[in-house]
Amino acid sequence: MNIKRKSFVMPTYGVKSLEFVKGRGCYLYNSKNEKYLDFSSGIAVNSLGHCHPRLVKELNKQAKMLWHVSNLYIIKKQEEFAKLLCEKSFADKVFFTNSGTESIECGIKIIRSFHSHHKTGKSEIISFDGAFHGRTFGALSAQKNKKYSNGFGPLLKGFKKIEFNNIEKLSAAINKKTAGIIIEPIQGEGGIRPADLKFLKFLRKICNKKNILLFFDEVQCGFGRSGKLFSYEWADIKPDIMAVAKGIGSGFPLGACLSSNKACVSMTKGSHGSTYGGNPLAMSVGLEVLKIISDNKFLNKVDKLSRYFWKKLKELEEKFDNIDEVRGAGLLLGIKTHSSNIEFSEKLKKQKLLNVPAADNTIRLAPPLIVSYKDIDKSISIIKSVLKEI
Ligand SMILES: Cc1ncc(COP(=O)(O)O)c(C=O)c1O
Repeated sequence: MNIKRKSFVMPTYGVKSLEFVKGRGCYLYNSKNEKYLDFSSGIAVNSLGHCHPRLVKELNKQAKMLWHVSNLYIIKKQEEFAKLLCEKSFADKVFFTNSGTESIECGIKIIRSFHSHHKTGKSEIISFDGAFHGRTFGALSAQKNKKYSNGFGPLLKGFKKIEFNNIEKLSAAINKKTAGIIIEPIQGEGGIRPADLKFLKFLRKICNKKNILLFFDEVQCGFGRSGKLFSYEWADIKPDIMAVAKGIGSGFPLGACLSSNKACVSMTKGSHGSTYGGNPLAMSVGLEVLKIISDNKFLNKVDKLSRYFWKKLKELEEKFDNIDEVRGAGLLLGIKTHSSNIEFSEKLKKQKLLNVPAADNTIRLAPPLIVSYKDIDKSISIIKSVLKEI
């Protein structure tokens, strides 16, 4: 039942029916203390579940010391966190933001400023069908999806959209103006669609050959969600730029744009900034999240759990005609149904399994990375019972 009450919040998220007052691990609780299995994770955000004790401890410790100082001052934790991020990735430099879309904006600026610095005459950026990069103008221009940009035009010039996973069409679209390519290695909002590893390897090759910067959007699929710290590792290649957010803060608003030294040559004093980005509170949480997630034992467990979940979902796909396809990677999995995904999603929620619909008639399952086999089994039994009902 929808709770109808006067709201002073802009209704951009529509009518809401559920409210939670507490979260612990993989569960959310309402005011009646009824618990919901949270496989939405705040849309792939709560990588370590709700109120992870180590994060609560770090946040409390920092909150008693210092919340915010400007980036005009030295922030030790920021340096420490950036160093660890670089050690654990392809990157040489990090710019901290507060969200995914800001990290995308920073990446777009890196691409354009690189080519401006080298006077290459290139400025066009290629993106792909089904992509979602956020809600700022740069991000909207990159994804060229009317669903998100209708009424907000004109968008920025110099963006081209190509069919996802299509090497021929991409090769044909690249010209001497092509400055960068932006891609989600696993599309989230677009319907949990992984890029072919062959396609990703091709991107790296063509970008090297034509002096194009390769920009990965790992806002949703990064930070352990794929079973490796970053999804690009599966293709055994490295991007030049990468946007991250969501799982990086496990619920604390935080994002980052990572870059090679070569790509961010023009990101010098005054070229970019953020009042809040990289503040001590955010850094204390982010650093702790990275220390936990980047541990090989932790990532191996995520990989094992995701393979188990995948197998169980594939068994359901064989059994139920209503499932068109189970897809995704790691703990970012999607079920495409023949019947309405919205109805499917709502019925799962009624049985207290939280999930998020995505495009292409899919529902998304993105449990916290600390999920247990028992909770996966529980979700499977709920999904089975809803599939029987539909
Ligand atoms: C792949 C991807 N990029 C960018 C964004 C934008 O992130 P934010 O909502 O934090 O601005 C999202 C958000 O869902 C996303 O999934």
